[in-house]
Amino acid sequence: MAETTPFYITTAISYPNGKPHIGHAYEAIAADVIARFQRLSGRRVRFQTGTDEHGLKMARKAEEQGRTPADLADEMSGYFRAMCDALNVSYDRFIRTSEPDHHRASQAIWQAMEANGDLYLDRYEGWYSVRDEAYYDESELVEGEGGEKLSPQGTPVEWTVEESWFFRLSKYEGQLLELLKTPGFLEPASRRNEMIAFVEQGLRDLSVSRTSFDWGVKVPGSDGHVMYVWVDALTNYLTGLGYPDDMGDFWPASLHLIGKDIVRFHTIYWPAFLMSAKLPVPQKVFGHGFLLNRGQKESKSLGNVTDPVALAERFGVDALRYFLIREVAFGQDGSYSPEAIVQRANGELGNAFGNLAQRTLGFIAKNLEGYLPAIRGHDAADTALFETVDRAITTEIPEAFENLALQQAVEAWLQAVFACNAYIDAQAPWTLRKTDPERMETVLATLYICIAQLAVAISPVIPASSARLLDMLGVPDDLRTLEGIRSHWYSPLAESDYQLSAPTPLFPRLELPAEDA
Ligand code: MF3
Repeated sequence: MAETTPFYITTAISYPNGKPHIGHAYEAIAADVIARFQRLSGRRVRFQTGTDEHGLKMARKAEEQGRTPADLADEMSGYFRAMCDALNVSYDRFIRTSEPDHHRASQAIWQAMEANGDLYLDRYEGWYSVRDEAYYDESELVEGEGGEKLSPQGTPVEWTVEESWFFRLSKYEGQLLELLKTPGFLEPASRRNEMIAFVEQGLRDLSVSRTSFDWGVKVPGSDGHVMYVWVDALTNYLTGLGYPDDMGDFWPASLHLIGKDIVRFHTIYWPAFLMSAKLPVPQKVFGHGFLLNRGQKESKSLGNVTDPVALAERFGVDALRYFLIREVAFGQDGSYSPEAIVQRANGELGNAFGNLAQRTLGFIAKNLEGYLPAIRGHDAADTALFETVDRAITTEIPEAFENLALQQAVEAWLQAVFACNAYIDAQAPWTLRKTDPERMETVLATLYICIAQLAVAISPVIPASSARLLDMLGVPDDLRTLEGIRSHWYSPLAESDYQLSAPTPLFPRLELPAEDA
């Protein structure tokens, strides 16, 4: 039965070497929208996010600050979790890789790879970027402005020589190529060619342990070795399901949502580890784009780093969520600014949707004492509106969400909202009140039904505002799914003695503080 198909979605887990920035918020929100949409469609959903706490980057940052890595991770991980909570991100587990069950899972996958004959001891000699926690081949490096060597991501690299365990990545070339060419595995499809080219030029075995520091998961039976941070980090996706014990039916993951800069780890290293451990590979990896601040990357030196929680406090959680999903073509880079947030929130949430609800509910409260209007036969205009909204909520919006075309899902919703606005203006219930009160009731009932449907359909994006509106409308909880809100629920509700009260504004008008105007 399609309804009960499990859906497992994950975000990348973040290095807690500092506080979260807007990019972290963007990924968490996008994943949350997808998770909520899948729940709304009736699927069993599991959603995991968390922090990636081991490795040299964390160890060095802690050392700089004169504290232990565990202490740094405890503090910063708390900010990441608080951000998710503040942004209404509905994760089932917030994982920290320092947790004991994660160490156990990482050691288990290691042993499975070892049992498959894929690990051997050797000496690593080559380039390493601590910022990326990544090994690079000489041929991949680029030259910085001062002639220094940089990783392809533009980060500093250091020459590293140490004893290390190696993973036989080269053995998996053929299988990986086949996987990368599987339609739907890596999206957007534009990211595939780069990965295919990387594999085609020949894969070298991967160094998977470190001996020069000890902040990591211990390699079983190999004193002095801790796992390369990406080996344990990627395993988080299994830990959360109980690996190495029974994982139930959520594995393989339906979707790993990640940034475009870490596609190599997720579509080459991770599937190879899984193949070696004889586990199924994820169904889909989606690499989203970056979020720019007025077209520029945020950085400490530019002084333009935005605290996402402060942004949400200033504009509202739902306004921020709506903006990010509405504004950015999912998969591509996007840009944000206070003006742009204010403009979208006021124009689309406030004027288009909020006012529609406000006018309709206010009218019912005032003229019908809050009793839901009765329907006395629909005319062609009503039927046309129902058809438009029905097409949006049963086809356009779900198909777009399902295809991860998040921006198009919101656009389809907005078009249906515009249709409701055109309808209310054309039908003018305020005139009908005097000329044809029965027709007025039918018009209000039509709008009431469409508003409820549109509130449910947009709930993945603006969950708190949708719930508040549905509460005001008096729509019972069990109707708040895409299936439940479709048809035949209005009459019983209208015949009940439910009385709605005068609505309170859903989306207070945002002003731009002087410093941003
Ligand atoms: N911490 C890594 C980064 O921020 C992402 C790790 S995602 C993982 O780039 F799950 F694979 F570990």
